[in-house]
Amino acid sequence: MTDLWQNAMDHAVALARKAGSVSASVCLCLFFFIGEESVAAGEPCVLTDNPTWIVDPVDGTTNFVHGHSFLSCFSQLEFGVVYSCIEDKMYTARKGKGAFCNGQILNVSDQKEISQSIIATEFGSNRDTEVVDKIFSSMRKILCLPIHGIRGVGTAATNMCLVASGCVEAYYEIGIHCWDIAAGAIIVTEAGGVLMDVDGGPLDLMSRRVVAANNKIIAERIVKEIDAFTPLRDDASTETED
Ligand code: IPD
Ligand code: CA
Repeated sequence: MTDLWQNAMDHAVALARKAGSVSASVCLCLFFFIGEESVAAGEPCVLTDNPTWIVDPVDGTTNFVHGHSFLSCFSQLEFGVVYSCIEDKMYTARKGKGAFCNGQILNVSDQKEISQSIIATEFGSNRDTEVVDKIFSSMRKILCLPIHGIRGVGTAATNMCLVASGCVEAYYEIGIHCWDIAAGAIIVTEAGGVLMDVDGGPLDLMSRRVVAANNKIIAERIVKEIDAFTPLRDDASTETED
């Protein structure tokens, strides 16, 4: 019998590769329901029970100027695809079937000591001084736990794939959108990692807040240090904030 989800994932992989090598926007209008471009154009950003694609044609837009391109696809936590074109790394995951990079199985790090951990985060795009202060304050507190180091590759999608690959122990950010993290979310959990809100509750894809980590110990230790704030939810309105 035809495996529809596998077909859909194969299609997403092909589109991701094409987006990375040709043009990030050329092939996406075929199927997406929620995506940065569609929401900016006034389409609703509401998750329903219908199978839904969440697409981010280019994540890490600033990096794209320097040659990065990413595409994320997601469908009701069924599968996720992130393509890092500059490295030619295709990350995929399917519910219950593991996470992979170029076909090699991914596993999160088994590190439980926060002092030995590398944490990824980003400064985001909100430049309100109160928000910037909270971002610096959280970063300072996490750095001084102490941790081993802080990283950030300029894209939420790839930061999450680094968690899934065991290259960093965790990634957190406030201000991302659902299309930045949807694919990475299932890639992280299928690699054995955990997801939560920055207040320690369950991840809410529309809340614009995420902690992705190799395990609960590391995630909860970071959560204690984050000065949380609450951006306008993705599903609050059809207009994007930034
Ligand atoms: C952004 C990137 C960045 C993160 C921002 C995102 P964009 O996506 O993922 O790493 O800090 O919060 O909005 O705008 O480059 O598609
Ligand atoms: Ca993005």
